[in-house]
Amino acid sequence: MKPLSKRTDTLFQSDIRAVTALVNRVNGINLGQGICDLPTPEPIKKGAEAAIEENRSIYTSYAGIPELRTAITEKARRFNHIPVPSSNDVMVSVGSTGAFVSTMFALFEQGDEAILFEPFYGYHRNLLALMGVITKTITMRGLNWEVDFGEVRAALSPKTKAIVINTPGNPCGKVWTHAELEEILALAEAYDLYVITDEIYEYMTYDDHEHVSLASLPGAYERTITLSGFSKTYNMTGWRLGYALAPEPLVEKMGLLNDLFYICAPAPLQYGLAEAFMMPDDYFTRMMADYTRKRKRMGETLEAIGFKVPWPQGAYYILANFEDLSQKVVGFSDDRTACETLVTRAKVASVPGNSFFHHPEDGRYYLRFCFAKEWHVLEEACENLLRAFG
Ligand SMILES: Cc1ncc(COP(=O)(O)O)c(C=O)c1O
Repeated sequence: MKPLSKRTDTLFQSDIRAVTALVNRVNGINLGQGICDLPTPEPIKKGAEAAIEENRSIYTSYAGIPELRTAITEKARRFNHIPVPSSNDVMVSVGSTGAFVSTMFALFEQGDEAILFEPFYGYHRNLLALMGVITKTITMRGLNWEVDFGEVRAALSPKTKAIVINTPGNPCGKVWTHAELEEILALAEAYDLYVITDEIYEYMTYDDHEHVSLASLPGAYERTITLSGFSKTYNMTGWRLGYALAPEPLVEKMGLLNDLFYICAPAPLQYGLAEAFMMPDDYFTRMMADYTRKRKRMGETLEAIGFKVPWPQGAYYILANFEDLSQKVVGFSDDRTACETLVTRAKVASVPGNSFFHHPEDGRYYLRFCFAKEWHVLEEACENLLRAFG
């Protein structure tokens, strides 16, 4: 047989799926995969049920139905303070991932360079690689995952086309500050770069951290592609609905790509969501009270068993460090071993840290835990961990 495309050479089953298989075998609890097992809000489900019942089942415009694009425009103006001139700047896609793919195709030529910060979200790195983009990875350091902008400047070259950021971030929960975003914008303006900003966890911030959208900064809109969606905020990862916001000429091209790849996002689900996605304010307040309690339970459990916890500023993961533990306890020599140890001894799955770093070795002492679980499930996982290692 002739070989498959070279593009597929870099693609492998991620550790996340392998760990899922392992934990399923012992009937354990999966805190690995970034999926939330909480229910989708009733009004959204009812809206979709009605749309299915009414046979609103045909292809929609490739950029999404007007009602949903308008609702997203209003939300972006009100919640994100982004100066979106009209709903022509909004493209609905198959999850924010679909929007990211269209962004990749709209912006990059093979051999272009992009700046990415690590620990990173694997899809960002892998999709850039699939496009033949050379990724310059900047490591964020310390308990607050700080960025050395001198390093960013040094990584820029005439081939750099874009900077990719993720705030609040997966896997480390970093929430980029206004000052940091100003630095990014200054570099983008000085070097004429686009900025792609993945804000899928925008409603989830802790303590006094506030979500700031880069596109809301004066002058930023024209060079920013803002990606977000509904998967995380409304517990509907499997519905596959997300969007991009960017100036119309760019979104127009992204829409044409979206059309080629997917034709459109699922039609009845778009109708259902358009009716309902702006939930009352107390929906968000309750959601954050819930995640704050779960973050505390997860973080304190990990600290109690000897992990160092850089407390996440946002999102719903903890990227915890077990270097100290590796000196004292058998079964913690590296991330894959530690992950297996947790599955076999506590029936709890996590994600080995190597998935989040350009040099896998840099993730050697990290495991990522997702705490977006039903309370009783999280509670059982924490009890198991404390019993096994406390
Ligand atoms: C940072 C980040 N972006 C995007 C996604 C996927 O979003 P969607 O379901 O909208 O494609 C995830 C899911 O884990 C994520 O963590």
